[in-house]
Amino acid sequence: MKVAIFAGDGIGTEVMAEAVRVLESLRLPGLTLFEGDVGAIAYQRHGHPLPAETLDMARAADAILFGAVGDPSCDNLDRHLRPEQAVLGLRSELGLFANLRPANVFPGLEDASALKPEVARAIDLLIVRELNGDVYFGDKGMRETPGGEREGWDMMSYSESEVRRIAHTAFRAAQGRKGRLCSVDKANVLETSQLWRDVVCEVAGEYPDVELSHMYVDNAAMQLVRNPGQFDVVVTGNLFGDILSDQASMCVGSIGLLASASLGERMTAHGTFGLYEPIHGSAPDIAGQGIANPMATILSAAMMLRHSFGREEDAARIEAAVAKAVADGVLGADLGGTASTKEIGDAVVERL
Ligand code: IPM
Ligand code: MG
Repeated sequence: MKVAIFAGDGIGTEVMAEAVRVLESLRLPGLTLFEGDVGAIAYQRHGHPLPAETLDMARAADAILFGAVGDPSCDNLDRHLRPEQAVLGLRSELGLFANLRPANVFPGLEDASALKPEVARAIDLLIVRELNGDVYFGDKGMRETPGGEREGWDMMSYSESEVRRIAHTAFRAAQGRKGRLCSVDKANVLETSQLWRDVVCEVAGEYPDVELSHMYVDNAAMQLVRNPGQFDVVVTGNLFGDILSDQASMCVGSIGLLASASLGERMTAHGTFGLYEPIHGSAPDIAGQGIANPMATILSAAMMLRHSFGREEDAARIEAAVAKAVADGVLGADLGGTASTKEIGDAVVERL
């Protein structure tokens, strides 16, 4: 179980320290951790946000635990040198096309949700976000219009095979849950989405036990706050999934709680090679204060044990310890509490 630890920038290093402590406290035989640079810190040290040595380290690992990247000091760099390219590069270079972002409300946290407690209580959903295509990875550029104006452009596209493989992931996930899948697109306006919908319908034929529905993304954003309990698994493209998963986090209570797994086709001895990261960013506004919530990263480590190492029991233990800490009122500033990053890490380790 070789794990590459890429903490990155800002609060990434702070939350990662706690996740590593939690992992080490399990004393798993065969677990080895090694660290690499990504993001702005990698740019400063090596001149690139995803240096070749980091990529080599990622390829040699069975799983990657990733913190966060991004730093305002890099906002004026060429796009290919910006910190975000580290995570985008890992996702594409390693073929990690399936991003699983579960969202459920912790008992006792209903009041932290931006929604009414009785609405929030019902949230138990999984967003399956495509991660290797869409407008994220299409050609892009700046040009001049005939009228002499500057114009930015980004090309959105999905190929059939890209949609088909993520659809299979989502249908299988639905089979393992409540058997309901909602595909989110904008097929009333976008050709990319029309193809998406057509292919999802074709794949549905192989999963008669899953109930498939379709929703336009604007309606999905509305339904997610009106009645999030209606969703089981949601499958969507890269851009819509980015937006809806941030929205889902505030329905749950804090972006400091949502973990994610990014999986591809490569297998490890006991599961799937993957990259695991909190869905939040580097939060430069609170970095260095020791107040970031490490729970999302700790929960990402749990997902890693489940998906890459087949250690369901240990994953469930970590999740239970986090839930217990929450129930006991160990909350950070993001949830209206006063616990520091380290105190939250301590609380989880104690409960383990
Ligand atoms: C996420 C993040 C990334 C994304 C950024 C950091 C490139 O927002 O993982 O959701 O847009 O995918
Ligand atoms: Mg995002």
